Amino acid sequence: MDPKALKDKAISAIESAPSAQELEEILRAYLGKKGELTIALKSIASLPEPEKQEVGKALNSLRDTLEQLAKNQKTRLLKEEVSLHEEQEFVDMSSPGTPAVKGSLHPLTQTQQKVKEIFSSMGFSSVTGPELEQEWYNFSALNVPENHPSKDMQDTLWLKEDSSKKLSSKEPLLMRTHTSAVQIRYMEKHKPPFRIIAQGRVFRNEATDARHEINFYQVEGLMIDKNITVANFRAVLQEFFRKFFGSDNLSLRLRPSFFPFTEPSFEVDMKCGICQGKKSSCSTCGGSGWLEILGAGIVHPQVLKNVNINPRLWQGFAFGMSIERLTMMKYHIDDIRMFYGSDIRFLSQFS
Ligand code: DAH
Repeated sequence: MDPKALKDKAISAIESAPSAQELEEILRAYLGKKGELTIALKSIASLPEPEKQEVGKALNSLRDTLEQLAKNQKTRLLKEEVSLHEEQEFVDMSSPGTPAVKGSLHPLTQTQQKVKEIFSSMGFSSVTGPELEQEWYNFSALNVPENHPSKDMQDTLWLKEDSSKKLSSKEPLLMRTHTSAVQIRYMEKHKPPFRIIAQGRVFRNEATDARHEINFYQVEGLMIDKNITVANFRAVLQEFFRKFFGSDNLSLRLRPSFFPFTEPSFEVDMKCGICQGKKSSCSTCGGSGWLEILGAGIVHPQVLKNVNINPRLWQGFAFGMSIERLTMMKYHIDDIRMFYGSDIRFLSQFS
């Protein structure tokens, strides 16, 4: 055993330890129970006398040197490690943050909420009905004749006969073509007077273009009371439009029309907000300058009889309008298909 060689080897190992953890391992290799220096110290006993003293002294002093050196080395390595860690973990509090992306309600949802709020302020409660409907509620009870063209396969999405049977429906089933079906469901179960609106999705078997979609949203209104006339309908409608568009001077026109469930019937048009009636090529109004926004009328006596309400005692008006068209007019959107495109650039404008 050459104490000098051991010393050089141990010092160089300690000095070149790359980390505090590895330094520990190096120390153990020399000073641990089975460490090189420990073993050397134990072997002193077997040395002859003069050598014993000399080697013993050298090895003991080497142990002190190594311990001191390791202590200093450890302090230095730990300091280095801490400052390296701080450097890597450094957070620049002055650097700009990542902006949080905020979602928003779909414009059609916003319109539905506004519609509900305005009608509620006029005493109308909000009700709903199923999208999968029976022929009775969608057509027959609404006085729609057996051979009416709206019942045609071209216009209505009917369920196959065996699907209707599987759902144990005695009536043929269809995807409701209008929210008017909810009127019947409500009147069947409630006694007048009442004021309701029913909002929801309706389905039409037709080609899509800038004004038509295969499914869209409607709001149905119904008010049944005593001595209700067209004047009441006009007043409610006027108030609704005033509040919805936030303007007193909107151009509306009532056009005589026909619906089997109302008599008399009207269609209500609104001056086209996209072209203001000026552009013959306007795709939103088809160049007419007016956009049909709702159908309405005084509820047909036969419809009231169908739900056991006496038409001599009770009268009322009903209307159905498109949520999409209302929204298009309000925000000057010229294509109904924008609502279903999921284009974030379009949707984020309504936050
Ligand atoms: N259901 C009709 C449609 O979808 C709209 C309508 C017209 C509803 C007259 C009514 C009404 O309640 O009285 O075209």
